[in-house]
Amino acid sequence: MRVASLLLALAALVVAVSAGTRPANATDLGTGCGGNCPGGCSKCPCGESSHYVSIADWCAKYSWDQKACQCIVSHESGGNANAVNENSNGSFDVGLWQVNSMNWNSCSGGAAPCDVETNLKCAIDVYRWGGNTFKLWSTCHVCGVC
Ligand SMILES: *[C@@H]1O[C@H](CO)[C@@H](O)[C@H](O)[C@H]1NC(C)=O
Ligand SMILES: *[C@@H]1O[C@H](CO)[C@@H](O)[C@H](O)[C@H]1NC(C)=O
Repeated sequence: MRVASLLLALAALVVAVSAGTRPANATDLGTGCGGNCPGGCSKCPCGESSHYVSIADWCAKYSWDQKACQCIVSHESGGNANAVNENSNGSFDVGLWQVNSMNWNSCSGGAAPCDVETNLKCAIDVYRWGGNTFKLWSTCHVCGVC
């Protein structure tokens, strides 16, 4: 009888806990980088906590088409400055504009540009290399700005 009550109490506790906000789990903390790398990552170059910023405010810091920039950033990172994606070729896309690691040497001294200011600098470089367009972002298609 006592054991049964204890089990019931435990079951109630488990239900109460799982009904609350979802805690970070092993998947999040491992391949998912705490949610920063939804597709799974072998490492977490921007850590394991998110950092959401205003997409409109950050796009406004450069004279590109604002709607185009906001669409690109929305699709690339959703405004999470710590967003990361690991490509099948082993390269990483990082930050608000998901800057590819092959560009880090030239725009961020080789380090992952998780810092928003650095990410913006990298994005402006990539934008210029694309002839002042967003055509080097694969999301230019969904945004109609290639
Ligand atoms: C753990 O996190 C992953 C990735 O966010 C999610 O898909 C999964 O449902 C979570 N599992 C549990 C038990 O919360
Ligand atoms: C690796 O894949 C990414 C995403 O498709 C691409 O942007 C990048 O140019 C590739 N890098 C190399 C060295 O092929």
